[in-house]
Amino acid sequence: MVAKKLFDGIFWVGAEDWDRRLFDSLIPLPEGTSYNAYIVQGKNLTVLIDAVDPTKKDVLESHLNEFPKIDLVIANHLEQDHSGLIPYVLNRYPQARLLATPAARDLIITHLHIAEDRIKTVTDGERLDLGGRTIRFVHFPWVHWPETMLSYLEEDKILFSCDLFGSHLASSDLMVKDEERIYEPAKRYFAEIMMPFRKIIQKNLPVVEGLEVKVVAPSHGPIYARSAFIIDAYKKWVDDQPENSVLIAWASMHGSTARMVDHLICELAGRGIKVMPFNLAVTDLGHLAMSLVEAATIIVASPTILTGLHPLVAEAVFLVNALRPKALFAGFIGSYGWKSRALDQLKSMLDSVRFELLNPVQIKGDPRPEDLTLLSKLVDEIYQKHQTAGLF
Ligand code: FEO
Repeated sequence: MVAKKLFDGIFWVGAEDWDRRLFDSLIPLPEGTSYNAYIVQGKNLTVLIDAVDPTKKDVLESHLNEFPKIDLVIANHLEQDHSGLIPYVLNRYPQARLLATPAARDLIITHLHIAEDRIKTVTDGERLDLGGRTIRFVHFPWVHWPETMLSYLEEDKILFSCDLFGSHLASSDLMVKDEERIYEPAKRYFAEIMMPFRKIIQKNLPVVEGLEVKVVAPSHGPIYARSAFIIDAYKKWVDDQPENSVLIAWASMHGSTARMVDHLICELAGRGIKVMPFNLAVTDLGHLAMSLVEAATIIVASPTILTGLHPLVAEAVFLVNALRPKALFAGFIGSYGWKSRALDQLKSMLDSVRFELLNPVQIKGDPRPEDLTLLSKLVDEIYQKHQTAGLF
């Protein structure tokens, strides 16, 4: 493995992970991922920006063999896929110090067991002169942990953004060549990882825009030579206004709830509302997460099993609550056999979102015409709510 030159004195020393299919034992990676680390050389100082996942130690080692001197290591983010090998790097370069935000100090000590005297904290806006090159540190908490920051190389106008603006995509192309191709992996990444911090990103995005960034070099996925592509995409994704659409997350055991969902889809589409149904028995939750980025209304459709939600539905509701999408409205429909506490369970699970709850439609057994009429009334309600919210 050899380091790849990006520009004079700037190298990619990361690792592709073609075969990884799960992140955090949770997030599907249908196209693998990469852990991007970078070397930046000034006339006086050489820095390593972030490291790679510990499983790729041999790759980093072979890259670093080309760099006998590293003076400083910058940890933009302490999650182990970027920081797990920093103790190895600091052992290898005993004179090097580790730069990170003050909020990172405790994490460095507890997670990486690095001695305090190797750590130097940097303030927001602080500049580091490498000799002909200057790195400005921009504190940007919660992208994706509380300690995160960005490193901006002023003269070259390169933003090393770590998780922010990343994508889970292993690729032999270091730079984005096809923006259409990267859009979905980048959106999936935003949906699964960044969406809970949407409001914080929304507030801080103008700081990034003020930097006049030319190149965005994240720590996952290809590098953006045209920064406006990914920054504009993020502006859209973090915006408060949803689209005129309804996401339906559903499961059915014997077809009754499925027939309710079918009726709802048909009626919503007939009213000109985009419908995004997900049969949770066959759904890649990454696709559901992507649709949450824009949905205005979320309908949860579940049969009752052992008096509660179907476990697949409960998992999806957990995800919705954790990702905190911008949706304005939520509703519940479903069929039960003899008794149900599914609605109460659903309400108790949605404790970190502020959706306006629509009138639920819960029926006993297989839907009759009068039950379908209740669903049509729900569609009327959704239509009116979307209209009032200015979504048409
Ligand atoms: Fe790629 Fe939050 O670590």
